[in-house]
Amino acid sequence: MSTIAKTPELNNTNLWKSKGFINNEWVESDSGSTFPVTDPGNGNLLGHVPEMGVSETRRAVDAASEAFKTFSKTTAKSRQDLLNKVFALINENADDLAKIVTVENGKPLADAKGEVVYGNSFFEWFAGEAVRTYGDVVPAANPDLRNIVIKQPIGVCGILTPWNFPIAMITRKLAPAIAAGCTTVIKTPAETPYSALAVAHLCKEAGVPAGVVNVVTTDKNVAEVGKEVCENPAIKKVSFTGSTRIGQLLMQQSSQTLKKLSFELGGNAPFIVFDDADVDAAVAGAIACKFRSSGQTCVCANRIYVQSSVYAEFASKLAQKVDAFKLGYGLDEGTTHGPLIAERALEKVEQHVDDAVKRGAEVLSGGKRVGGNYFAPTVLANVPEDALVNCDETFGPLAALTKFDTEEQVIALANNVDVGLAGYLYSRDIGRVWRVSEGLEVGMVGTNAPILSQACIPFGGQKMSGFGREGGKQGIEEYLTTKLIAMGGITV
Ligand code: SIN
Repeated sequence: MSTIAKTPELNNTNLWKSKGFINNEWVESDSGSTFPVTDPGNGNLLGHVPEMGVSETRRAVDAASEAFKTFSKTTAKSRQDLLNKVFALINENADDLAKIVTVENGKPLADAKGEVVYGNSFFEWFAGEAVRTYGDVVPAANPDLRNIVIKQPIGVCGILTPWNFPIAMITRKLAPAIAAGCTTVIKTPAETPYSALAVAHLCKEAGVPAGVVNVVTTDKNVAEVGKEVCENPAIKKVSFTGSTRIGQLLMQQSSQTLKKLSFELGGNAPFIVFDDADVDAAVAGAIACKFRSSGQTCVCANRIYVQSSVYAEFASKLAQKVDAFKLGYGLDEGTTHGPLIAERALEKVEQHVDDAVKRGAEVLSGGKRVGGNYFAPTVLANVPEDALVNCDETFGPLAALTKFDTEEQVIALANNVDVGLAGYLYSRDIGRVWRVSEGLEVGMVGTNAPILSQACIPFGGQKMSGFGREGGKQGIEEYLTTKLIAMGGITV
């Protein structure tokens, strides 16, 4: 790795922040130590950000607690206006933000632009929701009582997010928190802090008051910072996106303070192609669903089940399309797919490919590393049911095809995992579409639709993929508490 930082060329250079953000101020770590951030596409050093820890996290929580006293009392309309201002500023800076996402995450610029639009849609959506946190009037059991149910912001929220969507995973938590009147402490992923810091900068520019958004950057201290967020009694809610294993740990750590939690954890999405499907549409869907962000999303297809009579056609058409991908550096023109985030990600894909091949799978496309953090987009045919890739999420560009015969068989196969985030099926038989959608043990089903992600839907899983919903009309509820006010003294 070169020791000279190579930052991206931005129109708005103010977006590139290399400090933590507490109480609307850009701050170093207490010890002065920093950690390097590199571009996964070429290994270049992008810069250093503060290695913050427990003491800085506590200061961020204190700032958020102080801010909550006043921010929680602002009107919903004023928070709607604030969110709309953030939305407008992100739109104005979208090209620069996309460049930041590309250099620190690796995804191609077109995908990064898509992420900025997607991420920003949460500000727009929750600006709308801010003014709709309705309560209820409930007929009372006693003639002297009147029951009013109101919604209130829950308090300071901890936001813990992954590197795969450096902007969108933050905005889909931050926007509803602000809409509800909450204040936040965000712990950024070590790989992608710059996108989060740029969003914090734009929040400040939009007039978000001091202490409402705080950002703690950390790499080595991540475990202590996560623990502090979960154990600090001033934090009332934690929203986490990441692995099931870390989710279990955070849940344990949150138990002493009984925090409200929403967790979006690992997936292992089945993608089912029935023999009555439009095969070309299913191939296009598999490309979009499996290879989005080079397979590094929790909702990516992981296990592709294809019914016997269309299996050969589907497999050869898919391999042909994958062969036409242009793997390369995210900022280079024409790149369709980028690098993986780090060596550990390549090792996992390699392990899943090797295991499947050892068990008899056939490589139709790719199958190996091609230098740096790049792994050739891969299609494997005849992957046995018990192959590692069918039991564990790959989180990489590996399409593993397994043949099936009947609807009952494939539903059983699809449900034979302990996680349940998303599932997909291609079929033109409406009865089958309903039966399979209802039968899949997942939080979200795409029928003839490979991309589900939108701000307007309740995003989340079942089983060990977690709980709580992000986006949709449900998303803001995660940041609210429900209070009954029972009013007596009515009858004379
Ligand atoms: C994720 O990978 O966790 C989220 C992907 C999305 O929102 O589409």
